Amino acid sequence: MRRPFIAGNWKMHKTVPEAVRLAKQLKVMLHDEVEKKDIVLCPTFTALQAVGDTIRGSGIKLGAQNLFWEPEGAFTGEISPGMLVDVGVEYCIIGHSERRQYFGETDAAVNKKVKAAKAHDLGVIVCVGETKQQREDGKTEEVIHTQVVQGLDGLDVESPDRLVIAYEPVWAIGTGLNATGEDANAVIDFIRNILTDLFGSSTAEAVRILYGGSVKPENIKEFMSQPQIDGALVGGASLDASSFAQIVKY
Ligand code: PGA
Repeated sequence: MRRPFIAGNWKMHKTVPEAVRLAKQLKVMLHDEVEKKDIVLCPTFTALQAVGDTIRGSGIKLGAQNLFWEPEGAFTGEISPGMLVDVGVEYCIIGHSERRQYFGETDAAVNKKVKAAKAHDLGVIVCVGETKQQREDGKTEEVIHTQVVQGLDGLDVESPDRLVIAYEPVWAIGTGLNATGEDANAVIDFIRNILTDLFGSSTAEAVRILYGGSVKPENIKEFMSQPQIDGALVGGASLDASSFAQIVKY
């Protein structure tokens, strides 16, 4: 049995006091859930330290939204894996579609980031997903295959619990249009087969694969009742304590 994994991606939202307030509320509301599920909050870089202090000892984990692969140096504006570990980060989102779309992040960059995170014993949530056009052109599997194979190229997976994949169809992110549970399950099953080819079946069976894209309290059950879906990466609905808590408690 894979342990459910629910992460909140706060994106570029919330000042430090707002982030701390949300984390405090979630700490109370999710008190009974941390035994059964991995719950990860991914605030902005500026709020990592304060949110980390707030949730320390609660069982809720701290996540980041991005990193750079170099350990240190003249890379203005970037943050290294070691710096994230230093403030208590346990998981980092890598290759989110917004980073691919707006910041030109390639599969090769995703691969370097994944390897750098692993070198620092940082867990990763690697995002993959097709655009609306790619889906309409029947290219979903081809696109996903390339993103997974190139993003994870040459990786040794010693701890499968530190590798999480998020299937996030781009057309479903922030649009209110979610994939159906069955459609998402089919793509996630396809991803697990790719992982089997790459790492063998025992690793592939242990890796958590999430669905993301307009997840809300009203549709989380539909996803979590699918056999291949192990959790969710939640954007908009993670910004409100009661809606995120309802999702975690699905
Ligand atoms: P959404 O975002 O839940 O707002 O659609 C999901 C994500 O981008 O991770």
